[in-house]
Amino acid sequence: MKSFYITTAIDYVNGSPHLGHAYEKVLTDVIARYRRQRGDQVHFLTGTDEHGQKVQASARRQGIEPKAYVDTTAAEFRALYDRLEVSYDDFIRTTEPRHKDVVRSILQKLYDQGEIYRAEYRGFYSTRQEQFLQEKDRLPDGSWPEIFGEVTEIVEPNYFFKLRAYQDWLIDYLKTHEDFIFPKFRHKQVLEFLKEPLNDLCISRPKDRLEWGIPLPFDEGYVTYVWFDALLNYYSAVADKGLWPADFNVIGKDILVPPHAVYWPIMLHAAGLPPPKALLVHGWWLQSGAKMSKSTGEAVNPLALVDQFGVDAFRYFLIREMNVGQDSEFTVGQFMVRYNSELANNLGNLVNRTLNMTTRFSGGQLPPAGPPEDPERALQGLWLKTRDEALALNEGFQFHTALERTMVFLTETNAYIEQRAPWKLGKSAEPRDQALLQTSLATMAEALRLAVALLQHVMPSTARRINSVLGYTPGPTWAEELHWGGRLAGAKVAASLVLFPRPEKPGKPA
Ligand code: MSP
Repeated sequence: MKSFYITTAIDYVNGSPHLGHAYEKVLTDVIARYRRQRGDQVHFLTGTDEHGQKVQASARRQGIEPKAYVDTTAAEFRALYDRLEVSYDDFIRTTEPRHKDVVRSILQKLYDQGEIYRAEYRGFYSTRQEQFLQEKDRLPDGSWPEIFGEVTEIVEPNYFFKLRAYQDWLIDYLKTHEDFIFPKFRHKQVLEFLKEPLNDLCISRPKDRLEWGIPLPFDEGYVTYVWFDALLNYYSAVADKGLWPADFNVIGKDILVPPHAVYWPIMLHAAGLPPPKALLVHGWWLQSGAKMSKSTGEAVNPLALVDQFGVDAFRYFLIREMNVGQDSEFTVGQFMVRYNSELANNLGNLVNRTLNMTTRFSGGQLPPAGPPEDPERALQGLWLKTRDEALALNEGFQFHTALERTMVFLTETNAYIEQRAPWKLGKSAEPRDQALLQTSLATMAEALRLAVALLQHVMPSTARRINSVLGYTPGPTWAEELHWGGRLAGAKVAASLVLFPRPEKPGKPA
């Protein structure tokens, strides 16, 4: 079995999770499930980023200790991902000893090798962004942009990591590893960024300014810069499992340059470790054209949507709507359009018809199909095309288009039912009509079974429920599930299944 190690970014726990955080975990889950279906031995890591200024500040505002604060908020993130059926194999928290030990040992190693040095730092510091600013960050009038919040001048000794010494190595690495970043256009952005000389990275924060972090092993008066700490989670979680390097670090576009594309490969290389095989960079969910975020205060709470429409409708929407790598605007209106037309009226309708008609015309037992005629041949032909396209699209992370093709196949299956009109055949005693009735029941059920096999990484519980009402247990090898065949002949189906009910009208009295 091929092993496949995939990670998500680890979320800051200084607030509640929103749709943007949920999207990334669901996207990574879809990839992980898809790989498992294909037979890979998958290890899927997610977790929470718990140190640093922002978390310390949020805890203070609530008047509680940072540890108590992160225990509560990290649990909230984890509970959301459990609810969303994110099938992670491991959940790492950066406050765990297993992580802190690895961070400290790598820092010590780099320090011993001479990759980290102490120097006087004088500079303008943004507390909000937890970073020192440069002259080029100023606005033309000399002031600092809004996003930096309060900016103060600081002079203090600190520890620096020799980033600049590896700039040429990184450029060369990127040029010789063209698949390092998906999508490709981001690769070019990183090379563009590297045209300017890098500064060495300040990796320490004096304890009197920031207590909430991992103490430097060689100077306990300092804690580790939160990014240096957080990035190492991908390695610390598997350091004793022999799984490094990761196949993919899945991240949002805001944390590509410089953390993941510059600091991360250089940190690893300096420590004698290989970079991850690839970075998969997704775009943003927007609201009114701006990035959905905690600070805007109107971020969509995923749980509200899940409570109203169900986990799978939520997962389906995120994956169907977003072209991986691009941005997408979130609106409830668009959510409703997809819910009604694609899930309720298309997939839900096919499930209802299959169960109803099998119950009405065949005593609840699926008959075998007779020889295919033109309508059956056309549908089978469309299946082959849909399957092959969907597989290729999934391989290239074009999940949204793969789902669109699957929806077309479901639409055509519903059209096939209209054409065969089993409700008319059922009224006729002619042997030919009775044979066609059996064929049409068998055909719609088989088409449904196949479509479900292409949907299951996106809607796992819906897939389980549909297979169950069809009286079907999928075999161990997913690829074999994708062949058209008479697998359901003789199966006993349930009388009905409510999958995507019409939602309660908002504002309706309880
Ligand atoms: N803690 C850092 C990541 C450290 S990884 C070693 C961080 N946390 S975050 O909570 O701000 O963001 C976590 C992930 O959620 C990031 O990949 C980020 O891009 C993603 N998203 C946050 N808001 C988003 C949207 N509005 N849309 C899509 N994803 C975005 O950064």
